[in-house]
Amino acid sequence: MINLPIKKLRPGMVTAQSIYNTKGASYLTRGTAVSEQYISRLKKLGVTSLAVTSLNPAFAPSPPDDIIGERTRIKAIHKVYDTFHELEATGELNIEPLSAISETMLDDILSNQNNLVQLTDLRRHDDYTFSHSVNVAVLATMLGTLCRYSKSDLLTLVLGGLLHDIGKVNVPATILTKRGRLTQSEFSLMKMHPALGEEKLLNLSVPSAKLLAIIAGQHHEHLNGQGYPRHLMGDSIHRFARIVAIADVYDALTSQRSYKPAYKPHIAYRIMNRCSVGQFDLDLLNLFFNNVAIYPTGTVLKTTLGYAIVRESEFGRTLTPKICVFADPEQKLVPHPFDVDLQYCPSDTVQTVVEDLELLPLCYRLKFDPAQLLDGIRHCTEQTVTVDVSAS
Ligand SMILES: [Fe+2]
Repeated sequence: MINLPIKKLRPGMVTAQSIYNTKGASYLTRGTAVSEQYISRLKKLGVTSLAVTSLNPAFAPSPPDDIIGERTRIKAIHKVYDTFHELEATGELNIEPLSAISETMLDDILSNQNNLVQLTDLRRHDDYTFSHSVNVAVLATMLGTLCRYSKSDLLTLVLGGLLHDIGKVNVPATILTKRGRLTQSEFSLMKMHPALGEEKLLNLSVPSAKLLAIIAGQHHEHLNGQGYPRHLMGDSIHRFARIVAIADVYDALTSQRSYKPAYKPHIAYRIMNRCSVGQFDLDLLNLFFNNVAIYPTGTVLKTTLGYAIVRESEFGRTLTPKICVFADPEQKLVPHPFDVDLQYCPSDTVQTVVEDLELLPLCYRLKFDPAQLLDGIRHCTEQTVTVDVSAS
């Protein structure tokens, strides 16, 4: 898939991302072939770029399945929005609507356990907190299923993910939406949200209240004691909070914010593994990246063999997906693209991920969109199909 400036979108191209409004209603559902009307609407909404599955409408593959259904996701974002706003307006926290949607989310997750998480980097939302809460709930629960937790523990994780940032209701919106770095005093206010959330959740009269409060209260603690608010260390941080902490940071890194671009999964992987030493539970982090595609299907890689598109990522070996090589290291198309399983290649085979800014000129220069190779092996080994990208 490729991130295209809106002016280069053509009718028929299939979107690889959804766009929601604040209340969780969908402007655009991923997997849709865009029409002229959609394109002009996106321009009016101020959307500047959109991820599509292919440059050529004739070869546009569907985006990979999401781990929860689109309707479930939209409903969940909507319920989180309502819950936060009702609390803000009335001071009352009513989690009943969230409990109901949590069950649907868990059903979706449990019936899709074989799906690798492939899409968390492709979501846009004009109010971050609500879609972020849903993503955290999904990612945390996915990790919980890998830990083989009981259904009731998993339901607590779904709900804990949806409510982990509920304390932000008491943080001024000017701080939550500020572009750029927070001042020391603004950051001090921001750092109060775990304790504020904990207090609200402890007052709930539901059996999981204590665990929900622990998740909210501890999700910014680091194993090395350098987190906040209590600087808890090691085992004193509840396992559920460690799980939500991983989901929280991964989604924050891979989401677009006013002050930063959305990092690709391989960058998030590197940051969380190498730059955050001591922050996370390493066993949980390894388990997490067993099921989150570090190189999602459709990613174009520069390898020692040449340029290749990721065809398939598998559970437990997300660093070594199956790829299809379509150009040599000198950027010349190979006559017969060929498949390679990186599992059997030297560990330094992957050199870099070809970023969107480089990929678009590469596709135009080669007059070839590698996304068409995702259609099937026969298609790619028997002939090289060139794509008319002259519409650029
Ligand atoms: Fe938080």
